[in-house]
Amino acid sequence: MVVALLSAAMSRKSWRSYKKERLLKHDRERITAYIQQDFQTPFGAKPRFTLIDCEPNDKLGTYGFISDAQHFIAGAVKKAPMCIEDYGFALEKIILIATTFGLGTCWLAAFDKQGFAERIRLMSDEVLPAVTPIGYKAEQGRKDQLIHWAAGSDNRKMWSELFFDTYFNTPLEPENAGDYMSAFTMVQFAPSGSNAQPWRLILDEDTVHFYHDGKKEYNQVRQLDMGIAFSHFQSAMDLFHIKGEWSIKDPDRTSGKMSYVATWTRTESD
Ligand SMILES: Cc1cc2nc3c(=O)[nH]c(=O)nc-3n(C[C@H](O)[C@H](O)[C@H](O)COP(=O)(O)O)c2cc1C
Repeated sequence: MVVALLSAAMSRKSWRSYKKERLLKHDRERITAYIQQDFQTPFGAKPRFTLIDCEPNDKLGTYGFISDAQHFIAGAVKKAPMCIEDYGFALEKIILIATTFGLGTCWLAAFDKQGFAERIRLMSDEVLPAVTPIGYKAEQGRKDQLIHWAAGSDNRKMWSELFFDTYFNTPLEPENAGDYMSAFTMVQFAPSGSNAQPWRLILDEDTVHFYHDGKKEYNQVRQLDMGIAFSHFQSAMDLFHIKGEWSIKDPDRTSGKMSYVATWTRTESD
């Protein structure tokens, strides 16, 4: 399963046009089972997710980004520090598992919050940071290609821009990444809002510090992006049976606009 998730992470693309077909029983059952698990998020939030069947009179607006989706997955998480990152961590796991099932998905942070909030009965102490359509892919139209092109969705930043060796003044060479090479590559391929790829990682022996590039405010989309990076990193570590724990202990390595977010520390290998 973990290997399938890694290959899904490399092949996944945001999909915005769907066939007007309901999920088959088999797909509905396996998605429903998967979204109900405890996602063991880095900072302990417990997001809840719902598979929504779209009805003709639904007001599940996506500002025109998505065509003909028959289903969405929307979720909620109790407001707490790092809850948005944890939500991003969990929804990315769902998106990757859906990819292994051959289903299309697309992270959406811009959507009609009220319509979705009503459908999932959002409570006053919860937030609904993002949703995804889920279903059978239709051929992409010109609009999809335009959005894809405008976000530069095929591009990923180089290692030298994203990953650093102990301090920000030394780019991390892949050959010096040791056991962490696959995990860093997984982070490199992660999706992000407007494909901003705001994560910057420092490897310091068996500790990995996650920073935000600080180019824009650390808002909800950037928090989701960071949770997605945690998710990709953790999936690779799980594949190699390398255990670690997440914490917030600023190592004081900040440079320029970079702002510290969290740290993963190795605890043991199986
Ligand atoms: C947190 C987040 C929010 C996003 N919000 C939207 C959105 O509102 N509308 C949209 O069309 N795409 C959205 N995207 C998709 C990104 O544009 C896309 O992931 C990025 O360009 C990389 O392309 P890829 O997913 O095809 O690899 C979002 C992605 C993330 C991670």
